This record gives sequence, C-alpha cells and structure tokens, in this order.
Amino acid sequence: MKRRNFLATTFAASSLSIKAAEKNTETPIAVGILRGQPLISGPDPSSLAIIQALDGTAAGYAEISINDGSWQKIQQEHDGLLAYETHVLKFLLPKIPPSAKLSYRVKASPVDFSQSYSIKRAPEQSSETFSIKTLDAASPETRFCVWNDTHENLPVIKALHDLTTQSKPDFLLWNGDQTNNVLDVDQMAEQYVCPGGLPIASAYPLAYLRGNHDVRGREARHVENFTHSPNEDFTYAFRSGPVACLCMDTGEDKPDDHPLFAGLAGFDLMRKRQTIWLENIIQQPWFISAPYKILFCHIPLWWSDEVTDHGYYWFHKPCREAWLPLLMKSGIQLVVSGHTHQPAYLPKTDQRPIAQLIGGGPKKDIATLTEFIANKENLTITMKKLNGDNLHSVIIKPK
Ligand SMILES: [Fe+2]
Ligand SMILES: [Fe+2]
Repeated sequence: MKRRNFLATTFAASSLSIKAAEKNTETPIAVGILRGQPLISGPDPSSLAIIQALDGTAAGYAEISINDGSWQKIQQEHDGLLAYETHVLKFLLPKIPPSAKLSYRVKASPVDFSQSYSIKRAPEQSSETFSIKTLDAASPETRFCVWNDTHENLPVIKALHDLTTQSKPDFLLWNGDQTNNVLDVDQMAEQYVCPGGLPIASAYPLAYLRGNHDVRGREARHVENFTHSPNEDFTYAFRSGPVACLCMDTGEDKPDDHPLFAGLAGFDLMRKRQTIWLENIIQQPWFISAPYKILFCHIPLWWSDEVTDHGYYWFHKPCREAWLPLLMKSGIQLVVSGHTHQPAYLPKTDQRPIAQLIGGGPKKDIATLTEFIANKENLTITMKKLNGDNLHSVIIKPK
C-alpha cells in the first residue's frame, strides 16, 4: 500500500557468523554507538520490528530467540546491501508464533568508510537483551495501556513509563502527538524511539499511531523510519486476546486546502483509502469473532458539542462522516482518542451511537494513563491521572 524504506529481512537460522572486528584498525573505538535501548513495535507477532537508535553512523543486526531456542540473526537487506545507518537501525522480523517468549538484542559497529575498499568495522556493541511475550488472539485475557499527547514532555513520559512498567501490559498503545512537530531528523530518535533514553517499549510491543503534530514539518514523511506498524501503514488492526483493535490515522486537524499546508496535504485521499480498508477488515473472521471491539484514533470523532469552527478540528467530522456507517456495522463499542488535552468520557446517546473516551494532555496535571483489562466477563477501562486519581471508569460487556 505504501512505499517501504526498509525492505525484506533476511532471516538466518544458522549459527551466527558475525565477522569479528578488525584488530589493527585505525578506526577509533566509538563509545556508546547505541543510543538507549531497542524498541519493539507491531504489535501483532506477524508484523514486529526492532528499532535501535544510534549515536553515530553504524552497521548492525538484531538477534532473536524464540522460546529460549538458539539465537538467530536478523539482517536488513536492501538491494544487496546491509544496514548502515545514521539515526536508527530497523529490523523487520519474520512471523513469530503467538504466546511465545521472544528475546532480542541489537548489535552495532561504527564503520570507518574512508574508501570503497577501505572499510574498517570497529568492535560491535550490544544492547541489553529484552524479552516480550507475543500477543495471542486465542488468549482468554489481555491487558494493555494507552498514552496520548505526550508532546515530548519528558517528565510526563517518564511518569507514564513508570506506571506502565508496573502495570505489566501485553502492549502499549501510543495514540498520537508524540511530538510538537517533525522538523529535524536528528531529533527523531529522541522523539519516537528512546525519549530520555527510556526503554518505553522494550519489554512489551508498541502499537504506534500518529497524531496531527506528527504529520507536520519537513521530516514528517520519514516518521515511518523511526516507528513501525504493519506494512508501514498507520492504519492497521490486530487482536490481543478477546479485544479487536482498529487503529486509524486521523491525519491533520484542518482541511487539505487550508493555506497553511501550501497544497502538500492529501488526507482526503488517505481517508478514501482507509474507508476501503475498513470495509474489508470488519469482515475478517478474527475481527467478527472478537468479544470486544475498540477503535483507536488520535482525533476524536465526537466532542460534547458539534461546534467545528475553531480554526482546526476539535473533533474530526470528516473522518466520522466517512467511517461511521461502517463502524456501526462493525459493532465497535468505544472510540478511544486524545488531541483535545481535556480528558472526557462521552457515553453513547441517541445523537452519538458509539461511546467516546478521550485521554489527557502533555502537562503533569492533565496527563493520563488509560488501562484496559479484558477477560470473558468484562472489558474494564480505567483512566487515571499521574497521581493515581481516577478520572473515568468504563465497563464494556462482551458482544
Ligand atoms: Fe496534542
Ligand atoms: Fe492532536
């Protein structure tokens, strides 16, 4: 559907054959070529990628082990050349089984590339080894956490990370506005992969969604190099235990013909493509059979009023008009969003046929962590402030 900057992964199940670093190289041994710890994103086990931020240009590879089996080498090959990158290394994984223990690490080496036949590879450096348990649609239970609108506020991200780690989720969903804008490629690893060096999604996989701020700036077309979702498309779906999750990109918060975009916005086209995708995905047996069905999208589809004239979309009426008939047909029980920086729960009414939950904003007093816990009886959703105060609790019964 979209171009892919990272092409097919080579998957070598054979023993490792990493060439040892050359001893008599003039290349100085770089200290700390790896920046922070690797992030793993997908979150479905059929579409995982490991992303490692770098503090300099390096070659590298990942190693994975499934259920404590032998380590396997994952290389990223593009037209016969292996990864040699400046900002991040990104490794697409083969399909991993559900409910598997997936252990992984990244190894990278600075390279002195003075001439075409004078290439010297410094000793490799390794990340820590992390393990996740892969998602399983057949599991009777799941639990996960949702962040939104962190806007590069590191103390808030750190607080959310601490709470999320305590929650031991199956995955973390980051529901847009990670950034304020995307203007400088040198900032993007910090914005998307390892803010403050924190392992924000190392021990559980990430479900990434864009917000309207993440489509702004000259580097916005490269966000997919620093994140991962299936087919590098920000509209995708997956299932974790009894919960089917639709993730849909709401794009900008103004119409495409707004003068601020200088004719560079094409979200009407994206919405048409998404609507065709939605019509198809809700007919899939794995989706139909899910007891709980949730839509995640950054900009809400409803607010408490219908006022659209704010100079930008407070809620996204064009997306609502495009998707609502299919969302109704699909049995979606709740729309989960952010964007307004005002936490809110808008229950289902005659005018609003699906309930809408909206998370908080980037400041400590309005930031929220939303926890989802699903089992056979209920899907329990709790939205809390960073100090633990409960803002909203929602209980959904299985369909
Ligand atoms: Fe925001
Ligand atoms: Fe937003």
